[in-house]
Amino acid sequence: MVTKLIFLGGGNMAEAIFAGLVNDAHYTIEVIQRNPDKVQRLQDLYPNIKVTTTLEYSPSANDIVILAIKPQQAKEACLANKEKLQHCTLLSVMAGLATTSITNWLNNPRIIRTMPNTPSSIQQGITAIFSSPEVPSPHKTIVKEIFNSLGIVYIANDESEIDKIIPVSSSAVAFLYYFMEGIINSAVSEFGFSKEDATKLVTQMTIGTCGLLNANPDISIAEQRERVTSKRGSTEQGLITFANANLHEITKQAMQNCYNRALEMAKEFN
Ligand SMILES: NC(=O)c1ccc[n+]([C@@H]2O[C@H](COP(=O)([O-])OP(=O)(O)OC[C@H]3O[C@@H](n4cnc5c(N)ncnc54)[C@H](OP(=O)(O)O)[C@@H]3O)[C@@H](O)[C@H]2O)c1
Repeated sequence: MVTKLIFLGGGNMAEAIFAGLVNDAHYTIEVIQRNPDKVQRLQDLYPNIKVTTTLEYSPSANDIVILAIKPQQAKEACLANKEKLQHCTLLSVMAGLATTSITNWLNNPRIIRTMPNTPSSIQQGITAIFSSPEVPSPHKTIVKEIFNSLGIVYIANDESEIDKIIPVSSSAVAFLYYFMEGIINSAVSEFGFSKEDATKLVTQMTIGTCGLLNANPDISIAEQRERVTSKRGSTEQGLITFANANLHEITKQAMQNCYNRALEMAKEFN
């Protein structure tokens, strides 16, 4: 059976999801993108999909409407389409917005809430998924398949896990980049490497380090670290510096602050 996927909002996250599905015969893709310049760009890039500036009809109970707008745009966009979004299954990729908010705006309890991360755009992502009990089983399966094609899926035990996973696998992407930036900046300022060379070296080091973990699932991260750390060696000196500055305690605080902000945002955009 062919399932219609209608994206409300055709920005970065929507494109990351539908780019891999446009040639899949199981799906028909439609995108609602209010900005006419962006409509033209999407139509040129993906001639197989229908792109319009407004939702012109009422999707059926077999259709899945993906809410891929910014959380601060959500209430307005939902209320503007309220009458049309009564029967379909809703799928939210919006950070921080609780299912109860969306259900209240649309009076539709069939809702799947997800939290994807940006590596999904290269099929290396993680997506946490929570479904309300009203979502039909076939739609749960379809959504799981869609996000499996973008990386791996984590099925949340309850909705609170969707917020809790933000500092673990979504914002954590930026945390890792920030740490890489610190190494790159020091390679330039302390050791005279060009920014370009330092960026290449640190990027490849990160890819290789993660590749090593992936290739050896039986070896823990701590053990891999110990293998690089000789007693009284140079790595040990660097790690002692991090430990003395309590890097793990700082990380804990950063993750807690990130999570608290996600909860705050949910209230702000409600
Ligand atoms: N990007 C990520 O890393 C990431 C990761 C996880 C989750 N998310 C979630 O994904 C959602 C989308 O993020 P994004 O980065 O894709 O944002 P984005 O690039 O700004 O895309 C949203 C698009 O929707 C359009 N839009 C807004 N209201 C609309 C309406 N009523 N009808 C039709 N189109 C409308 C916007 O148009 P304008 O340009 O005119 O505003 C914009 O082009 C967010 O809720 C975010 O929390 C993103």
